[in-house]
Amino acid sequence: MIPQSFIQDLLNRVDIVDVVGRYVQLKKGGANFMGLCPFHNEKSPSFTVSPTKQFYHCFGCGAHGTAISFLIEYSGLGFVEAVKDLAQGVGMTVPDNDDKIPPAQRAEHQAKSMALSDAMTRASDFFRQQLRSAPPAVAYLKGRGLTGEVAAKFGLGYSPDEWDSLRKVFPDYEVSALVEAGLVIDKSDDDGAHRKRYDRFRDRIMFPIRNTKGQVIGFGGRVMDGGEPKYLNSPETPLFQKGSELYGLFEARQAIREAGYALVTEGYMDVVALSQLGFPQAVATLGTACTPIHVQKLLRQTDCVIFSFDGDSAGRRAARRALDACLIHASDNKVIKFLFLPTEHDPDSYVREMGAEAFEQQIKDAMPLSQFLLKEVTGDNDLRTPEGRARVQFEAKPMLQALPASSLRLQIVRSLAQITQSMPNEIESLFELSNPVAPARRPPPPRSKRMAPVGLERQIVRLLVAHPVLAAELDDEALNAIAGFAPDQAEMLRQLVELSRGMGEQASFATLVEHLREGGSDFDTLIAEIAAETESDLDVVRQEMAGAVRQTRIRMVDEEMQRLANAGLRDEDSRSRYRELTQQKERLKRQSDAAAG
Ligand code: UTP
Ligand code: MN
Repeated sequence: MIPQSFIQDLLNRVDIVDVVGRYVQLKKGGANFMGLCPFHNEKSPSFTVSPTKQFYHCFGCGAHGTAISFLIEYSGLGFVEAVKDLAQGVGMTVPDNDDKIPPAQRAEHQAKSMALSDAMTRASDFFRQQLRSAPPAVAYLKGRGLTGEVAAKFGLGYSPDEWDSLRKVFPDYEVSALVEAGLVIDKSDDDGAHRKRYDRFRDRIMFPIRNTKGQVIGFGGRVMDGGEPKYLNSPETPLFQKGSELYGLFEARQAIREAGYALVTEGYMDVVALSQLGFPQAVATLGTACTPIHVQKLLRQTDCVIFSFDGDSAGRRAARRALDACLIHASDNKVIKFLFLPTEHDPDSYVREMGAEAFEQQIKDAMPLSQFLLKEVTGDNDLRTPEGRARVQFEAKPMLQALPASSLRLQIVRSLAQITQSMPNEIESLFELSNPVAPARRPPPPRSKRMAPVGLERQIVRLLVAHPVLAAELDDEALNAIAGFAPDQAEMLRQLVELSRGMGEQASFATLVEHLREGGSDFDTLIAEIAAETESDLDVVRQEMAGAVRQTRIRMVDEEMQRLANAGLRDEDSRSRYRELTQQKERLKRQSDAAAG
């Protein structure tokens, strides 16, 4: 058994658009992606993939499901294999023992990451505030040409030149969250008995690293003189993994959309300086090689990624690593380019010396992935000899195998064939380049049954399935009202609320569907309906939910009034109850009119 919590994390990391996009040519159409359904024969696309719902749905044959179901249906993998396959793509390892994480431990886990996140926020606020009273630090930033505005945008700060300045923010300086967050270091004496704790970052310019939600998850700290190391970074923590985070992505997201591309640099300073100098679409890897997860994250924001590297040999090596990381994500509708600056420059120094226009030109002239790949495999092999040409093919083989089957791969194969005096089909068979896993021929999933007009209770259950976060927001009174009114749905409702609350913040339609994989047919019909719906804004849905709950209450009041009236309202008790109900009903109606108006 793979723990549900793992499935949940996995579905949060993978993007169904990437997964399906590997096998089906997808085009953006409104909020969704469209393509030809791989599960039945069709000439015009009725297959949709929703990034918001993380779900696919075919209007033609009714096929639908999560990224996991797609792999199962498409390539005939078993559930466990499909999960493993997806996990591998995002650098996760499937736990192979079947110890389910007990709920208590899960809760503890969540509380812990809350504590870490809280510590990071408080530290970041503190560093920012310290910068104001540190003239040398301000002078350093000014000296590097930065404005106060851009410093504020990136939340730059200063860590004082003291061993325990964080004591001012964390009076309980000994709590374990501080060391787990990487903010302090515990040092033991030689005898290992005595432990001394001190601040990790001292007398440094602080660059907070944010995740895509804007929460501070780590720091980079730069010395202001020639000290070592030049940059000190937060260690890997449960919140912060260098291999999947990009500096500046949170700040750059809007600009990336506007510019139509993301610019990937190597340094903190490059990002901040470029933002000020007219290139706010820049991000940086965190002193590590670029990983496939980085690339995937970027391609989720934009179809075009341009890497900038220093022209020196370290830059070339970094570029090669980035190329390798890009291969599995390179497809016909993505553009990936590489730009090499003159040896002595990084983007920051280049723009300052040569100007923004010159840099803009460099970006325009950046080398396409195909060209860089061919250049890399050619290297300094002698193309006049069979050995040299064979060597080129040898270098190219793993790279072409990593590329998804696409027109781009075909083009590269052709060019390689030309360079190495071979035929494209010779290369294809030599490299064992097969077409993507042929779809396992299985009957298309049954077309979903049309639902009879839905009752109020059903509408509520359906809203909860589509937006499990809402379940956590329902108070017990509302729950009782619904359950009392609709005993038929009470069990479904109870199950839903329990599951959704258990999933916490990660609750989403796709994760819920995976939880319900073995579930009853009742949910199956609902899931099919939701898959086919166009999505709406969560706020709108929330109002819809509140309205539905109100309607349930009104109906319950109505029913009781009816019962009292039928009994004849003979005693004062029943008459006063009737009056009370009348008022309640009016109140509820007023609320619902107010919400509607
Ligand atoms: P660079 O040495 O190129 O520095 O390191 P830089 O970004 O140009 O910074 P400035 O302009 O000198 O201030 C590039 C990146 O490598 C990582 C950092 O992420 C840095 O931004 N690095 C570098 C470290 O993590 N530690 C170091 O000691 C040096
Ligand atoms: Mn620099």
